[in-house]
Amino acid sequence: MSPQPGFLDMLRLMRYEGGAGWLGEGDVLSIGSPLARAVELHAEIGSTQARARELAKDGASDGTLVASRIQTGGRGRLGRLWGSPAGGLWMSLVLRPAFEARFAPRITQSAAVGVAKALRGFGAGAEIKWPNDLLVGGRKICGILAESSLERGRDLDFVILGVGLNANLDVEDLGVEDDRATTLRRELGRDMAMVDILGGILGGLEREFGRIEAFEGVLADWRLLNCTLGRRVRVVRLGEALEGEAVDVTGEGALVLRTGNGFVELFEGEIENLRPEGRWG
Ligand code: BTN
Repeated sequence: MSPQPGFLDMLRLMRYEGGAGWLGEGDVLSIGSPLARAVELHAEIGSTQARARELAKDGASDGTLVASRIQTGGRGRLGRLWGSPAGGLWMSLVLRPAFEARFAPRITQSAAVGVAKALRGFGAGAEIKWPNDLLVGGRKICGILAESSLERGRDLDFVILGVGLNANLDVEDLGVEDDRATTLRRELGRDMAMVDILGGILGGLEREFGRIEAFEGVLADWRLLNCTLGRRVRVVRLGEALEGEAVDVTGEGALVLRTGNGFVELFEGEIENLRPEGRWG
């Protein structure tokens, strides 16, 4: 016979069931964000990113938010799986920016700045690791995935912006090594109401998107908030390993590396920080 749950078990159960609150449509609409004027919430879905893309293809308007309490097939950059148990904020936004397709990378960089500032507002000292990972104390707390539609002429049809934030859960729930990931719960020592987390994130995104046309300000903040520039890094590109010092980031989202053979611009890839003497950091 299984024992009756004790007080601590009950607390854990309440958290798992959304004790700090999952989201209702009214909660989301009450935030009043132009990024979430239409809302689709799920208890469980494969991927909010895939669902938002479906909706966008069917004509969903700018400012449509899809979020799910659990994702069973969450996707990260470079086709990786993204573990998405209950307690995280797993969401995707349909955006229809009114600018040319060549400016699409600005969305990724603005989003990283907006989310980093929101996390700092919550009390978690987030930094941006190129291209758009949010780390606290070197551990990943949030991933951002911006995917553009195929161009229609020179304009973007839509961008799907996915945000995966490890919020009210423990690192063990994510099934990744402890030194690679962290959660808001771990950093703050408490859970936050999901509607407050979402409100902060949407507010941060809205502010940065509001200055996307005059991009220098966003880029300056990206440089201030990042933990990549000034470090020796290693990246594998087209099967070839490149090492160098990360010296700058461009308005097109490229990382500028100073290598033994000159400067190289990287547009995609996974970088590893190296210690100055070239050992893995
Ligand atoms: C990364 O690789 O760092 C990006 C991860 C993005 C994950 C989010 S969770 C919500 C949305 N749905 C997905 O399937 N992926 C994104």
